[in-house]
Amino acid sequence: MEVVLYPDPRLRRRNAPVQRFDADLEALVRDMFEAMYRTKGVGLAAPQAGLNLRLLVYNPEGDPAKSQGERVLCNPRIVWRSRDKDWGEEGCLSFPGIFARIERPTAVHIEAQDLHGQPTRLELADWDGRIFQHELDHLEGILFIDRMTPSDKVRIKPLLDELAEKFSTARAQA
Ligand code: CO
Repeated sequence: MEVVLYPDPRLRRRNAPVQRFDADLEALVRDMFEAMYRTKGVGLAAPQAGLNLRLLVYNPEGDPAKSQGERVLCNPRIVWRSRDKDWGEEGCLSFPGIFARIERPTAVHIEAQDLHGQPTRLELADWDGRIFQHELDHLEGILFIDRMTPSDKVRIKPLLDELAEKFSTARAQA
């Protein structure tokens, strides 16, 4: 599985709810973790795997040897967010080489379904909460560039142009 890169339109499409909690979903989740670890990420959303589904995986440890940190969340939603916010540096596997500080609530409470469709409720804060919110944005077609400060948007513009250039070259060759 290859990670879908900006500006692939699949990153902006509507994502459908996960409805089948079956062996295909398990295989997809395994592939997503494999792609995430291979590209040194800590989270991956289904649209980044080319599938427009409301599914995300992450592991704050970013290490396959620490699989106890793995989370699989289907149809997640935020039911509470803290008024407190903070800034933290983020990257995104769909934007290799681009990093910027993003402001987000420091804590969220969420509801989701697990890999087997069982409802689950989690309280996530700090790094854990930040990764989750970044991945949840992907399920809404929101990308971290949308949340950057105006000065960061200017700073990273040449890198975005480079990605767009590569994308159209690859598409022309396909
Ligand atoms: Co991302």
